[in-house]
Amino acid sequence: MRNRPIGVFDSGLGGLTTVNELRKILPHEDIIYLGDTARVPYGTKSRETVLKYAEQDFGFLSRLGVKFTIAACGTVSSVKVGEDSFDADLCTGVIIPAVKAACRATVNKRIGVIATSASIRSESYERLIKYVMPEAKVFSKACPMFVPLVENGYVGRECEPTAAFAREYLSPLKDEGIDVLILGCTHYPLLSDVISDVVGGGVKLISSGAEAARCAKMLLEQKGLLCEGKSAGKMKLYCTDSPELFKENASRFIDISGATVERCSVE
Ligand code: DGL
Repeated sequence: MRNRPIGVFDSGLGGLTTVNELRKILPHEDIIYLGDTARVPYGTKSRETVLKYAEQDFGFLSRLGVKFTIAACGTVSSVKVGEDSFDADLCTGVIIPAVKAACRATVNKRIGVIATSASIRSESYERLIKYVMPEAKVFSKACPMFVPLVENGYVGRECEPTAAFAREYLSPLKDEGIDVLILGCTHYPLLSDVISDVVGGGVKLISSGAEAARCAKMLLEQKGLLCEGKSAGKMKLYCTDSPELFKENASRFIDISGATVERCSVE
């Protein structure tokens, strides 16, 4: 069991930010990644549709025999959070790890959350923050333009369209005096500079994917499930649309040299 791969899935490429973190902190682990590139985005879809897709993505990775699953997608995590089978011993989403980190980091108990429209609509972040820290004030904002901007390469702080949307979305959060901001979507860590420019360097940014990777490491340690190998872990990538396109776009998120990319069906 301990030498099986860790499974990570996302609606598309964004979950590779979590894989990046995982490879830094668990360099010997094999990783299988599934990006549902044929059906991305999930963040604009209904709860029922996202749930159906999530079950299929989970099922695909289970059939490959992974020892632990990370749902790196903020949207999937927000609709599935609190379910028995989820955030259990051998799987995690991104919300609980991000909320715990945010509650540890805040001093003034004013916490901002940004994510896709579906995630914000679910109110999952808000509910969980209130559960962990009832006295906290939560300020949430959907940032629907951030995913397409990242996917099209508009990521640098010199990118005026991105900076304009960041000001539009984030100025109200800054005005509320938040001291912590949860980046509740896979793509947002790539916009950290632009986001910090608007909310101010004093606001701590919490990357939900990175927190999920740390949570996975902790749970695997606790269960005695870290791999025994000492060589560099292998990475196998699956996508539901063209592998060529996947390879072309994945480099925005992570170095995939040495990894295999295959097309699969999850339905
Ligand atoms: N992966 C999604 C998330 O983290 C963003 C892209 C999408 O909308 O599917 O919410």
